[in-house]
Amino acid sequence: MRLNTRVAVLCVGMFASHQAAAAELPQRWVSAGGGLSEWVSALGGESKLVGVDTTSQHPESLKALPSIGYQRSLSSEGILSLRPDILIGTEEMGPPPVLAQVKSAKVQVELFSAQPDLPTLEKNVTHLGQLLGAQAQAAELLQSYQQQLGAVKARVSALQANHQPPGVLVLIGHAGGKPLIAGKDTAADWMLQQAGGHNLATHTGYKPFSVESLAGLDPQVLVFADRALTGDAAKTALFKENPILDSSRAAKTGRVLELDPTLLVGGLGPRLPAALKTLADGFYPAQSGQ
Ligand code: HEM
Repeated sequence: MRLNTRVAVLCVGMFASHQAAAAELPQRWVSAGGGLSEWVSALGGESKLVGVDTTSQHPESLKALPSIGYQRSLSSEGILSLRPDILIGTEEMGPPPVLAQVKSAKVQVELFSAQPDLPTLEKNVTHLGQLLGAQAQAAELLQSYQQQLGAVKARVSALQANHQPPGVLVLIGHAGGKPLIAGKDTAADWMLQQAGGHNLATHTGYKPFSVESLAGLDPQVLVFADRALTGDAAKTALFKENPILDSSRAAKTGRVLELDPTLLVGGLGPRLPAALKTLADGFYPAQSGQ
């Protein structure tokens, strides 16, 4: 065989094996957990999504997909009716018996860690990139993410030059009721730290809000995320359901900030760097125009 012919045969062979590998990748995806769904879209995989959970609200187009319900209370029927090749989610996804049923129906179940730190995020996005056949995009997105976080870090350092980090509490609720306070090892705590706030809550995970905890900690800034309401309606409901909040320094000085709850589910998502900038501006209002 002449050299040119051999090279051509080799190229065709490589192309064919690449096509075969791509065909073996899961094609019908169901995603539970907003952050993960956003990464799938950012990696160019949105057209493979055949269903998402109720926390997957970004990009807006995901809302048009069939819903599998809330990530923590899934049903196997809802998922299996979509005939997925793969179900992705984090440890927030469940309940476990439903995941076992989905697995036993021969659906690939891929669990990602929602641990809020950069090494975990890198691992997750790299793995998603492999599953989507989008390794190069994954590397590019991660690089740009790190650059954006670097810019936030520089901004926060500048804002902090002459100011102490404000003491903050993050409340996560439902139409104002039964809020949970975000403690250590949560996405909310990671966000606070990156945006230059000091989380006054010292417990780990999310714990129910109590009058005692608020009275003892007296936050300078309150951040709330409500899964059912937004804007003024969410804020009014929060203060109506928890009137003790009126006595906090944060309420008296009008330092009450809203956070989109979908930023806190399914691991660290691609919109976080932009959200951190807004949060930092809220933590250091006098400085933020600079
Ligand atoms: C847009 C975002 C969110 C939506 C749509 C949402 C929706 C829901 C719903 C419908 C339930 C009730 C589930 C049931 O009783 O079967 C629930 C429970 C819960 N949510 Fe969320 N949620 C969101 C964000 C969050 C965030 C940010 C957290 C983090 C703390 C969180 C933590 C929880 C917990 C701990 C429960 C109770 C689970 C249980 O009782 O087993 N959710 N959520």
